[in-house]
Amino acid sequence: LESSNLARIEAAADLAALDEARVAILGKSGNVTLLARTLGSVSLEERKVLGPQINQMRDRLAARLEARKAELEAAELEARLAADRVDLSLPAPPRRRGGVHPTMQVMDEMIAVFADMGFGVAEGPDIETDFNNFTALNFPPKHPAREMHDTFFLPPDANGERKVLRTHTSPVQVRVMHRTNEKLPGWIASGQEPPIRIIVPGRTFRQDSDQTHTPMFHQIEGLVIDKGIHMGHLKWTLETFIARFFETDRVTTRFRPHHFPFTEPSAEMDVQCDRSGGEVKIGEGADWLEILGCGMVHPNVLRNCGLDPDVWQGFAFGCGVDRLGVLKYGMPDLRDMFAADGRWLAHYGFSA
Ligand code: PHE
Repeated sequence: LESSNLARIEAAADLAALDEARVAILGKSGNVTLLARTLGSVSLEERKVLGPQINQMRDRLAARLEARKAELEAAELEARLAADRVDLSLPAPPRRRGGVHPTMQVMDEMIAVFADMGFGVAEGPDIETDFNNFTALNFPPKHPAREMHDTFFLPPDANGERKVLRTHTSPVQVRVMHRTNEKLPGWIASGQEPPIRIIVPGRTFRQDSDQTHTPMFHQIEGLVIDKGIHMGHLKWTLETFIARFFETDRVTTRFRPHHFPFTEPSAEMDVQCDRSGGEVKIGEGADWLEILGCGMVHPNVLRNCGLDPDVWQGFAFGCGVDRLGVLKYGMPDLRDMFAADGRWLAHYGFSA
């Protein structure tokens, strides 16, 4: 039986035939399996002799099957390597390349402008504590301003704390300035000693969607803290930024009084522009364009972060990145920015 089985194994010309041989020999009703089953009906003495013999034969056959399998696999690989050819004359499949998204492009341009003015970059998480997003920024508890921001609240955690998707990049002001740990359980202290001169690019969230609003958008925040800082520094910084960003040397700005809980005085900055030609021309003309919110950092915010307002003063501003991009590139609807439509991106030259 063993020699006929071995012959059958040697004769298998490919892996399929070898597997058939394996089933016929060692399978459920293979000839060796059936033979082993006959041991049940022989005498004990005979079984003591035959049992080990059959087992050993089965092991030898199994080993031979394995070895033959390896041989056949190697042969198949050999054959495939010999037959395969790389045809360099075949046309290559078209390759689609990604590009930098307009928002990120605009962000990079803004960061470059501020980096030239000596600003560093700070970042914070999208999910914020209520303290960082509101309380430390001088939003009184239950104050309607919290609702004004159309906040996305997260379900309360095990401690009953309700986190938020940050509604602005201003909480990073707190993260950068905060020098005491007591007020904020779980706070990772990174507060830096003034002078501080940073910008904060990042994602922000509000429940809002129309031609000029998307529930997720991007802001760039600015924060300067030093001794003797005043509105003049704020104005120069923002005018210089706008002129460089829009690549013009003529910018006329208008600061309209406004209210933010975290700045006093607060203002919104408009830039003079010309809309008569369809697209917006920054720098001159009969129209005004609202660009950003800004102001002098409120003494309460400094105090909340452990800084003495009699020693330190500062200014801050926050500006919608996508909105400025839409303006700079003449895009009609902000929502298109996040529609992930390759044709739209290509139209504005943002993908290859
Ligand atoms: N955080 C404000 C907003 O999102 C903008 C702002 C930032 C205003 C800093 C003043 C100072 O509306």
